[in-house]
Amino acid sequence: MRGEVLILNLNRPDALNALNSTMFDELDSFFSSEYKEYDANCIIITGKGEKAFAAGADIKELHGLSSAQAESLSRKGQIIFSKIEEFHLPIIGAINGFALGGGCELAMACHIRIASSKAKFGQPEVGLGIIPGYGGTQRLIQLIGKGKATELLLTGDLINAEEAHRLGLVNYVTEPEQLMDRAMEIAAKMQTRGPLALSGVIRSVNQYFSSAHEGYLFEAKTFGEVASTEDFAEGTKAFIEKRKPVFQGK
Ligand code: COA
Repeated sequence: MRGEVLILNLNRPDALNALNSTMFDELDSFFSSEYKEYDANCIIITGKGEKAFAAGADIKELHGLSSAQAESLSRKGQIIFSKIEEFHLPIIGAINGFALGGGCELAMACHIRIASSKAKFGQPEVGLGIIPGYGGTQRLIQLIGKGKATELLLTGDLINAEEAHRLGLVNYVTEPEQLMDRAMEIAAKMQTRGPLALSGVIRSVNQYFSSAHEGYLFEAKTFGEVASTEDFAEGTKAFIEKRKPVFQGK
């Protein structure tokens, strides 16, 4: 049985595909369904426009959240990204530009990542006075190891595609114009494999990390706590006002 490759575009290019609540709801409903009606057997997620895969959660929506609201938003994002990671079809992230914050976390939830040479990766949340809340503190360690992951999480530094490849964050780097062809090539290979075997591999790989569950809960709780600080209010306000934040440690 040979189905189609379904291409899912993150489509908010004017905001660098920043993930707002509408996009989260759409991702949730997409990955909650079996999508049998499309007869797809592989999915590619990419970003619309030249600049970004996704530049993070929508900072304008994060500003002003209470601690409880932030924790629940974090859990919601984590659950949606886990649905992606646990989806029965292989999912390739074709990372065409910025994959920052929630965008990097979404890329990490995909099963295979291919980056354009123009892509940039990072978890810059600490610069806003917050921590990653959609699984970034867990999946970055799983993919590249504790040492480098902790450095990237603590500095908020961005890395380019070559460095992401060197660290094992992405599987391949291509020229931007070859990105979708390369993704289709890998999809085509998997399409010739047994569909039940593919979903068995996905389940088994995820099982290896099943004890990580506590880490996700801890991340969401900490996200909620840090989100109620003055520093986070200042960090998000400074982004919206296009200036550097002045943190007080409060
Ligand atoms: N949330 C909401 N809006 C965002 C956004 C985000 N995460 N990232 C970018 N945007 C918006 C900008 O506000 C801007 O909108 P405007 O034209 O209405 O002012 C538009 O997207 C273009 O972004 P801009 O900052 O002008 O592009 P740039 O090329 O100068 O910089 C980035 C690109 C990615 C370096 C910069 O947008 C950025 O730092 N984004 C936030 C990254 C981040 O901290 N993500 C983690 C969030 S938790």
